[in-house]
Amino acid sequence: MIHRIVLYAIGFIMLLPLSSCRDEKHYRIGISQCSQDDWRSKMNDEIHREIMLHPEAEVEIRSADDSNEKQIADISYFKDNGFDIIIAAPNEADAITPIIKEVYESGIPVIVFDRDINGDTYTANQGVDNYGIGTAAAQYAYSITGNKAKVIEIYGLAGSTPAIQRHNGFVDEAGKLGMDIIDSAHGNWNYEDAAVVADSLLSLHPDVDLIYAHNDRMAIGASEMAQKKGMDVKVIGIDAAPEIGIKAVADGVIDATFLYPTEGYRLIRTALAILEGKPYDKETILPVSSAVDKTNADILLLQNESLKYNHPR
Ligand code: FRU
Repeated sequence: MIHRIVLYAIGFIMLLPLSSCRDEKHYRIGISQCSQDDWRSKMNDEIHREIMLHPEAEVEIRSADDSNEKQIADISYFKDNGFDIIIAAPNEADAITPIIKEVYESGIPVIVFDRDINGDTYTANQGVDNYGIGTAAAQYAYSITGNKAKVIEIYGLAGSTPAIQRHNGFVDEAGKLGMDIIDSAHGNWNYEDAAVVADSLLSLHPDVDLIYAHNDRMAIGASEMAQKKGMDVKVIGIDAAPEIGIKAVADGVIDATFLYPTEGYRLIRTALAILEGKPYDKETILPVSSAVDKTNADILLLQNESLKYNHPR
């Protein structure tokens, strides 16, 4: 009899932690990045730092390495493996819209960030004013070259929405200011493709005054080509991630860059608000800030270093 009571008591004690765990929610957040690069690794660092403050949640980040097929597979993996919420930066809008729609309609919350889908079949969207960045870039280009400047544009990936908006903003403003975009080619967001197209565009247009690239990696590729040809051309990019873009400005490789905010922490906070039924903004558009150029690049780099050492990694 005593034996049995002792056994029941032991069993009861062993089950206690299980029953208390059952009430505690543990969230799994699946993040699908369309690629891997300086801008995205800054963002992933911010995500990892934020998640450390939330023991009730964990994240898994996958990169699609610029492939629409891989991104569809990554998002399907999160959907089929019981993740509580999916966050995605769609590589190209047309290709990724159907899977995002499928997730959304299945009842799993989904946050779209950085690049858009077609329509609004998502729970929340965190984007940046890319049209505004294009406008600011045109104004800056005008300020360093003046009226009638001849501009070459190195375009991002054709089907990804920031490229379209950065193009539209720049073209509309350049038109108002009297600058002329004499040619444009796709650099697909990467250094290698941009260097190749810049090489041929610079040969075709030896009288060009400025290159406007939709991100810093492409701006650096274009600048190196101009330098190789001994051409004196101004170059501006976008992103201002410290290790690549701001450093390139500080080193005099490119003339200016515009901050494309990452704000990974904000994504996690929105995801948790959605999961916990708290209020959140369906649409967040982060505003444009002023140019990073020779006058402030050094201080921004120093500031970034001190932030890095004051945060746990
Ligand atoms: C990073 C990136 C950035 C660019 C953004 C646009 O993958 O190529 O350089 O600003 O994506 O979505």
